[in-house]
Amino acid sequence: QQAELVGAIAAAPDAESLEAIRISALGKSGSITALLKTLGAMSPEERQEKAPAIQSLRTAVADAIAARKAALDGAALDARLASERLDMTLPVAATPQGSIHPVSQVMDELAEIFADLGFAVATGPEIEDDWHNFTALNIPETHPARAMHDTFYFPDVDAEDRKMLLRTHTSPVQIRAMTQTPPPIRIIAPGRVYRSDSDATHTPMFHQVEGLVIDRGIHLGHLRWTLETFLKAFFERDDIVLRLRPSYFPFTEPSVEVDVGYSVEKGRRVIGGDPTGPNGGWMEVLGSGMVHSKVITAVGLDPAEWQGFAFGCGIDRLAMLKYGMDDLRPFFDGDLRWLRHYGFRA
Ligand code: PHE
Repeated sequence: QQAELVGAIAAAPDAESLEAIRISALGKSGSITALLKTLGAMSPEERQEKAPAIQSLRTAVADAIAARKAALDGAALDARLASERLDMTLPVAATPQGSIHPVSQVMDELAEIFADLGFAVATGPEIEDDWHNFTALNIPETHPARAMHDTFYFPDVDAEDRKMLLRTHTSPVQIRAMTQTPPPIRIIAPGRVYRSDSDATHTPMFHQVEGLVIDRGIHLGHLRWTLETFLKAFFERDDIVLRLRPSYFPFTEPSVEVDVGYSVEKGRRVIGGDPTGPNGGWMEVLGSGMVHSKVITAVGLDPAEWQGFAFGCGIDRLAMLKYGMDDLRPFFDGDLRWLRHYGFRA
């Protein structure tokens, strides 16, 4: 019986069948348990004679079960280790990664370039009131420039009879900067602006960066140097030429429109090089001028003491010129293929 049992134990294929054998032999009503129970009914002599054999049978079976259990557990562990092994040399599955939108990229570049020139970044609300967007900038109610801006007005008029609108340019941030901090002021203000306009080069929402310097003794030479330094840094070339043309903005006097020279290199139009060479020319990039004395007065400063210059520039257009896009609309379509192509790595 012992040999038979021990053989069955050694052959038990898994933990469950081993447990079944254990119960059938050593369990409450198991065969060996039953044998042990018979000892109680025996005479002392008989017990002394038979007990050692039964005890040794019990021990042998219990030992065999323990040994088989250890073997099965070891095999189970080996199997788990084998099946759960990680191959650290496998290539990692590619996870889709986002990219920096060209507009954000250019805003970062602008902030960095102007930080080197001592300019801080300022912001203002996109939902603006009539006074900051127009009146304080010397564009009174009846001024024809208001019509030129294709303004989105809000239908409601607030308590103080201030008309609210989506700002049509970043110039109201000039007003906010001048009313919030005493001069000297050196800021740029990048952000979204809105005009009711839409075609390949105009979207109802686009981005501008405003620049403002207010200090004593500021003149047009400072404006020219600043813009030249900025455009050379932005387009990463030293051979950038500027052309300043007289212009008109209600909030600057004199007003200056700034063109950069472009040329053709390897069949591609690039900013920089000789604009008077073959296929070269001028491209308008920004509006600027000396801050109008009426604007200085509107914010409560004395124009005899404080002068300054301001400029406004389309960020989307800067991005198109630097990174070679020819259509503005995909900037705001959220098309992943476009974003993958034109986006920047973080
Ligand atoms: N705000 C003007 C525009 O949107 C640009 C500008 C800004 C011009 C500052 C002069 C000075 O066209």
